[in-house]
Amino acid sequence: MELFEKLGLAQLCVMREDGPVVRPVHPIVHGGGVYLHGRRGHADWAGRPAVLVAQEVLAVVPSWLRHPERACPATTWFRSTEVRGTLVEVVEPAEKAAVLQSMMERWQPEGGYRPLSAEDPMYAGPLQGVLVLRLDGEPTTRVKVGGNLAAPDWERVTRGLWERGGNGVDGRLQLAIDLAGRTPGWLTFPGGRALLRVPDARVGEAVALVRDRYWNTMWSDATVAAAHLGSTAWVGLERDGELVATARAVADGGKLAYVMDVAVRDDLHGEGLGRRLIGLLESHPAVRGCAWIGLHTRGAQGFYRRLGYADFTPPPDRVELRRYRTLAGPGTLG
Ligand SMILES: CC(C)(COP(=O)(O)OP(=O)(O)OC[C@H]1O[C@@H](n2cnc3c(N)ncnc32)[C@H](O)[C@@H]1OP(=O)(O)O)[C@@H](O)C(=O)NCCC(=O)NCCS
Repeated sequence: MELFEKLGLAQLCVMREDGPVVRPVHPIVHGGGVYLHGRRGHADWAGRPAVLVAQEVLAVVPSWLRHPERACPATTWFRSTEVRGTLVEVVEPAEKAAVLQSMMERWQPEGGYRPLSAEDPMYAGPLQGVLVLRLDGEPTTRVKVGGNLAAPDWERVTRGLWERGGNGVDGRLQLAIDLAGRTPGWLTFPGGRALLRVPDARVGEAVALVRDRYWNTMWSDATVAAAHLGSTAWVGLERDGELVATARAVADGGKLAYVMDVAVRDDLHGEGLGRRLIGLLESHPAVRGCAWIGLHTRGAQGFYRRLGYADFTPPPDRVELRRYRTLAGPGTLG
């Protein structure tokens, strides 16, 4: 069901009397079931067998990662969810309202409408006019992420995909690795593993690591979280399933990358995690092509100098300008 929630679009195949029809639909996950809505003209779909499918591409694997000449190993990694069952019409206005309200909360979380309710006269007509169908059936999930690859191939392919790059490769490859349930050796270190992209759902862990640092005293947790979610690159290190180091960069893939919010959990300093973290961030497809990588620091100059960073003094005629938009917390903007 997660995929239906995430993508918001799926294909529905309904077995009609005159044969199968396939339609793009907007699935609604509500109370553990999956629902569809549409015009009443489709009311005859109720009682018919149907299949609902959503797919997500996780990687397009080029053949040369497996064989120097043969095109045959080229493949696509994906995950898909399918519900096969019978369509049932939801007739109770209260249940219809609850289903449609779930959809609104998922896709219009900012509000801006009167909550759907069967008691609200404004919605009496629309609720009667809309068709809501439930697809009764168990979801099945298919995952193809190279889980059958021999260990050396798994290393070569995952690393090769990272090096090949492409928009969004960080999140998709991380998801493939997690779904495969095997972290390649090049992303492991004694006692832990590296994350090519920290999953959005774990932003709270990253905020906890950087919250009290001197550069964040003026920012609210919500602003720091938004900054992580909006960053081009956001890598992390994990030990025993806990995020112990995080770093992010805003990068344009050409001229520059700017590194921010670098932190290793305090009791783990001096173990080489910071070096590993920055190395991974610098290898990010959007960062590694940049002419320069910059950052500001108050106390970690020695750390960055060891990693190849040099002090930069702007030319005297260079003026930095800023237009302040918002100040989301107490303090001053640095
Ligand atoms: C700065 C920080 C990320 C370094 O992480 P770390 O895991 O302790 O660093 P590493 O163990 O990988 O150290 C790599 C090298 O840098 C050196 N180093 C680490 N911190 C240093 C510092 N503050 N000053 C000088 N050298 C430092 C280490 O001795 C090591 O040197 P070596 O390879 O020659 O032995 C970590 O100390 C931290 O989170 N600090 C608090 C937050 C912070 O200041 N972040 C940076 C803001 S821009």
